[in-house]
Amino acid sequence: MAKSATKTKVQYVCSECGSVQMKWLGKCPDCGEWNTLQEEVVRAPEKPRSALAASTGYGVQPVSLAHIPADGMPRLVLGNSELNRVLGGGIVPGAGVLVGGDPGIGKSTLLLQMAAEVAAKVGRVLYVSAEESDHQIGRRAQRLGINAEDLYVLPEIVVEQIVEQLEQMKPALVIVDSIQAIYSEMGSSAAGTVSQVRDCAALLLRACKRFNIPLFLVGHVTKEGAIAGPRVLEHMVDVVLQLEGERFHAYRLLRSVKNRFGSTNEVGIFEMSEGGMQEVRNPSELFLAERLPNASGSAIAVSMEGTRPLLVEIQALSSASPFSQPRRTGNGVDFNRLLLLTAVLTKRVGVNLSDQDIFVNVVGGMRIDEPAADLAIATAMASSFRNQPVWADLAIVGEVGLSGELRSVGQLPRRLHEAAKLGFGRALAPRSALKGKGDAALPTGIEVIGARTLREALEAALVK
Ligand code: TYD
Ligand code: MG
Repeated sequence: MAKSATKTKVQYVCSECGSVQMKWLGKCPDCGEWNTLQEEVVRAPEKPRSALAASTGYGVQPVSLAHIPADGMPRLVLGNSELNRVLGGGIVPGAGVLVGGDPGIGKSTLLLQMAAEVAAKVGRVLYVSAEESDHQIGRRAQRLGINAEDLYVLPEIVVEQIVEQLEQMKPALVIVDSIQAIYSEMGSSAAGTVSQVRDCAALLLRACKRFNIPLFLVGHVTKEGAIAGPRVLEHMVDVVLQLEGERFHAYRLLRSVKNRFGSTNEVGIFEMSEGGMQEVRNPSELFLAERLPNASGSAIAVSMEGTRPLLVEIQALSSASPFSQPRRTGNGVDFNRLLLLTAVLTKRVGVNLSDQDIFVNVVGGMRIDEPAADLAIATAMASSFRNQPVWADLAIVGEVGLSGELRSVGQLPRRLHEAAKLGFGRALAPRSALKGKGDAALPTGIEVIGARTLREALEAALVK
């Protein structure tokens, strides 16, 4: 390796794609994003990056594919079934998992609970706390009723020290809270910068892969909702989980955004309680618990979150607007879909919402982006406008097209099964989705009403 000059210089690193530029530019020439280049001071490395080189696994020989066992080490299955579901059936040995989420949402709490479980069942767990002192972790553990002998807390921010500890200890699981708070002494720029985050993550991931230790990294989320630091961080890990929730709701959703070992879009549902993050096993029941069955403006949608059907209440309120430009507000629904459904109701069905303020809310702080919830949203809006309640025993599924036609949705039998299980006697679905489906595919105990258009669907859904 050539000796580099000791003169300090400045470089600009893109927070989106990680590309390095010699001068500042408004637009990154590599990924085309604006205002993503961040200035970093380059310090000449004091010594060659031997630690980096040492942990890359130099000298490994190629292995014939035929001789690589497919199963490898078994997954570490957790008692927490919601976490298991999101991880795709447990923790894979050597996997790198990035857990993102807003500050205060419960990342540290959830991971500490998981760490305690693994420590009790499997063996030593290393919890690197770069943001909080060991006393703070101790206090949280006490609050959660955790007292695990094999759970080791390491308040450390230098990544080389962390790697050294984990190489000595070879724990069953490593958690680093958070990746933005640690730095490399050998890195070429200051702590918290894009290249530091990337280098630290690379070093940790390589060390953990070498010993087949699963690694959980906590990442902060920026105002825009992306995980702070370079996007490359998301490419480097195997699994990206996002913890979401509204500040004033106790529910927390853990979504898998990327998963090399399982399906994405899986959701785990938790409730933040006095005793930490509790798993919610029957979310539909919980979301429907406070529903007023005969109120107008309320409809039940059956939405799929990954492989799990969820019943959620959609509420709408329309009231004559005092403004020339009426307001539309959506909570938990896609705003553009809300506008589209308003237009379809006005133009195709004759529910004239053009001078109405409209508010739509998904109860319980859930967010539904699926078009399959269209029909329930439109029904709730029409129900509020006409002041006619929706039949209390009716669950609603279907996408609405621009001509006011209903379009079929995926996984209808699963959705209907869930609705039947929760005691709904009838379901409203697009007729096209029922075609070719024998009675065998559809659950018994629920009457399925097929409708061709939104107008037909409203006829069936609203109490006269
Ligand atoms: P925390 O896990 O520190 O969030 P993050 O690591 O994502 O920043 O959670 C902080 C919040 O959770 C805090 O407002 C207190 C609350 N909390 C509970 O409600 N119950 C509990 O048992 C614990 C430990 C925290
Ligand atoms: Mg935290």
